[in-house]
Amino acid sequence: MPRERIISGNEHPEDAAPADAFNPALRPRKIDEYIGQADLLEKIRIAVAAAKKRREPMEHVLLSGPPGLGKTTLAHIIADEMNGSPPKITSGPALVKPGDLVGILTNLKAGDVLFIDEIHRLSHIVEEYLYPAMENFSVDVVMDSGPHAQVMNFALQPFTLIGATTRTGLISGPMRSRFGIAHHLAFYSAEELLKIVQRSARLLQLPADDDALRHIATRSRGTPRVANRLLRRVRDFAVVRGQGTLTTAILNEALTLEGIDQLGLDPLDRRFLSIMARDYDGGPVGIDAMAATMGEERDTLEDVVEPFLLQTGFIRRTPKGRKMTPAAYTHLGFQPPAHPQSNPQLFDPRQP
Ligand code: ADE
Repeated sequence: MPRERIISGNEHPEDAAPADAFNPALRPRKIDEYIGQADLLEKIRIAVAAAKKRREPMEHVLLSGPPGLGKTTLAHIIADEMNGSPPKITSGPALVKPGDLVGILTNLKAGDVLFIDEIHRLSHIVEEYLYPAMENFSVDVVMDSGPHAQVMNFALQPFTLIGATTRTGLISGPMRSRFGIAHHLAFYSAEELLKIVQRSARLLQLPADDDALRHIATRSRGTPRVANRLLRRVRDFAVVRGQGTLTTAILNEALTLEGIDQLGLDPLDRRFLSIMARDYDGGPVGIDAMAATMGEERDTLEDVVEPFLLQTGFIRRTPKGRKMTPAAYTHLGFQPPAHPQSNPQLFDPRQP
């Protein structure tokens, strides 16, 4: 089995494991506990308050952005604010047939929140069933087929749909237009991540130097899920090596062992960049070629590797594909090519 990637924003079993005395849940449960995404929180506060005043469900919300930025957490918070119960959770790939969706919709109670993760992976046919459900709280179900086909209309209880996607670009126009709020979650700043890990360290009852927490914040790729995962990992180190207190020295030791560098790049990120430099002369190169050379899923590269490398300015998107920037060469300790496209033979990063 490949080694688990600590730095990926994708959910690991430990992130969703039930909380207990040793592993308290680190996710905020209330809107006021949430750190960061200030613009979005303000929109949500207003929408929740307005919906409560009108005694209606809140408008549908589309959340997009890389994994680990809080889309599921926000669905829980909204559901809790609206009707005090958890959201009903499903995902695009789980809804194979229209009947799968209809079954869920007809079981919703008034004011429920339905969370559809990876909503960009809904099939067209299921998507068509979702539209009237979102607009009029009703679904048309075709019974039988051929000349005996009958359409039955089912009224649904008013509900709020929260759709989540890592790919804004893959959401169809008709789908997007049916959401009252559509928001792209940005990476968190180092200051916001510091506040998040300070809160998490308190919840984990882990004494920690502020400087050590600051290092976690800057090495977490702008992603709270990664920050909290790193914190849990280094907690073990602190217990074994440091009498329980997390210091910068212990932190560096732990992150070096995990292969996480000063900017939060892990071995997969660095492999991505070195293959781009070595095999494709720094690009431009298409994502499918990169996925094939690396033996990785295209989705993994697009969802978790590229967004952060784009954000750090290590790669750029061009009409011909992805291209490495001089900063990426410097970070890897490679010599940037003088004229990468005009004379690639001049540059071979495999040479010392
Ligand atoms: N834990 C994970 N994400 C968080 C956030 N945005 N605010 C507070 N705690 C968090």
